[in-house]
Amino acid sequence: LSSTADSRASDRLAIQSHAGCYEVVFDEDAFALLAAGIEPSHHVIVDERVAELHGAELAAVLTRAPVLSIHASETAKSLDRFTGYVEHLVAQGIRRGHTLVAIGGGIVQDITCFLAATLLRGVPWHFYPTTLLAQADSCIGSKSSINVGILKNILGTFTPPQRVVVSTRVLRTLDERDIRSGIGEMLKVHAIEGPAAFDRIAADYPRILGHADVMRDYIQRSLAIKKVLVELDEFDRGPRNVMNYGHTFGHAIESATSFAIPHGIAVTIGMDMANFVAEALGRTTGHRERMRPVLRANFDGYEQTPVPFDAFMAAIMRDKKHRDTSLTLILPDAEGRIGVVTQPNDDRFQLACREYLESARA
Ligand SMILES: NC(=O)c1ccc[n+]([C@@H]2O[C@H](COP(=O)([O-])OP(=O)(O)OC[C@H]3O[C@@H](n4cnc5c(N)ncnc54)[C@H](O)[C@@H]3O)[C@@H](O)[C@H]2O)c1
Ligand SMILES: [Zn+2]
Repeated sequence: LSSTADSRASDRLAIQSHAGCYEVVFDEDAFALLAAGIEPSHHVIVDERVAELHGAELAAVLTRAPVLSIHASETAKSLDRFTGYVEHLVAQGIRRGHTLVAIGGGIVQDITCFLAATLLRGVPWHFYPTTLLAQADSCIGSKSSINVGILKNILGTFTPPQRVVVSTRVLRTLDERDIRSGIGEMLKVHAIEGPAAFDRIAADYPRILGHADVMRDYIQRSLAIKKVLVELDEFDRGPRNVMNYGHTFGHAIESATSFAIPHGIAVTIGMDMANFVAEALGRTTGHRERMRPVLRANFDGYEQTPVPFDAFMAAIMRDKKHRDTSLTLILPDAEGRIGVVTQPNDDRFQLACREYLESARA
């Protein structure tokens, strides 16, 4: 009994934020606990697919609280959809002091977090992440990101939840591409931690997919690495910038392919591309080769997806981190440490990007 109590005690991670401390609780009975604690002042925002696939476990939650069900897609988090969400919640009787409860992946998270930041000038929110990406990465760090037209994540806030509850059991219904998308973000934080941490997760890569306990271990490790950076720099003004490793290129790839590639897989390609570009610019050698096998395995099946170069460069230029002619890139240095680099948007850079997308990626 005591060993259960001990493991439960260690299955919590406290995160400090500007709005106070909140906890990530690991509990395989997350949905049962949620059902037991549901109150009339809770409004559930649920991923429609999760509600279907986990209907039996969620029945007690979804029949006891007002529900807003969302078909998760990038357009679902675009600004013009918010009219409908707000009208729905107001019709349900939402008031100040009520709580939003998000059950879903990064899309439902971004929608709920943005609503929690703005609706009635702010309401609390809780999060039950159901994708690996949300469990291992996005559930901490306070950010909400909303799309406006083709401008991805252009609106946003820093609005931490009051609690996060993770049950890895829910991941059993996730498509393999979404598992690999989440692994992409886990690989990213481990790369940021340093070459030794990356090499360790790379060696365990084949076991992550088939072993729930290994998966859970890496979810916890990933959050522990991210926690340090978000507590140091919650508002992303300095040290936290490195979390964008693979993202400058990844976002541009997502945009140029109209989101045909899941986020974390685009980020996986983005890391390999960042390493390739860093070598082409003479900043580092050997690190692409070291990291590529696991990255390549993780984006397998997407190595030929056409990424139109002009659309890619246009998306790079829209990235909010850049200034007129210089780009802010997150690249490995000679030791394989991931850092922020200012790079002119010159012919050399563009040639390296083109070469990567057109041949070196595969
Ligand atoms: N705010 C942040 O800090 C942050 C960080 C990273 C990513 N994001 C955003 O998150 C989004 C991507 O998140 P995501 O990968 O979680 O995508 P998602 O929420 O779209 O989920 C991916 C797919 O999995 C389905 N799904 C969810 N849970 C499931 C389950 N348990 N079983 C079966 N299917 C399930 C969804 O319906 C969807 O089809 C992007 O918009 C990205 O910009 C936000
Ligand atoms: Zn990401």
